[in-house]
Amino acid sequence: PKLVILISGNGSNLQAFIDAIEKGDLKAEIQVVISNKKSAYGLERAAKANIPTFVFPLKPYKDAGKTRVEYDVDLANIIKEKYNPDLIVLAGWMHILSAEFIDILPGKIINLHPALPGQFDGTHAIQRAYKAFMEGKIPHTGVMVHKVIPQVDRGETILTRVVPIYKEDTEDTLEERIHSVEHEIIVEGAKVFLKNKNLYED
Ligand code: GRF
Repeated sequence: PKLVILISGNGSNLQAFIDAIEKGDLKAEIQVVISNKKSAYGLERAAKANIPTFVFPLKPYKDAGKTRVEYDVDLANIIKEKYNPDLIVLAGWMHILSAEFIDILPGKIINLHPALPGQFDGTHAIQRAYKAFMEGKIPHTGVMVHKVIPQVDRGETILTRVVPIYKEDTEDTLEERIHSVEHEIIVEGAKVFLKNKNLYED
């Protein structure tokens, strides 16, 4: 299967895909890594792995008085026409996709979110879970891979994993634990998604 991966930053989850493919744990091809930020470190990871990259910033659209929907529609059409992937992975893509983007590539987009379904939607999920745990409001947190719908961090769950929080944790130690679980679950989640569509066999 053919994958397009969208990033905005570090790209450690992209790295998990690169490593899984190199090890033969995931039989797939990353056609292109797209970033909305030129400075995203994930672009270097892609380049090192000889994966094509494409930077698609929002600013020129804003400067031209164009809307976010116009940006999203153009990006979705480029992905569809140039790559026609089986799966689009949002691996730390820090833009909320508009419904128009999703309509152009229906049923093909998955997202990774560092919280359990229905908890801590949106940004700073790890920090909010840490605080809630320390206030005795939640017993643990988790991560999930889910299908993308217009509502942020909602959409049918593909995989979830509970991640413990300990009293002696700092935000940093929790974040580290969450990221290492993310790296497993995002690759596994992509496989489950593709298998369910009969696009992948072990
Ligand atoms: C991850 O925590 C992901 O869940 C969130 O953004 C982060 C991306 O990390 N949506 P990285 O760029 O893959 O290292």
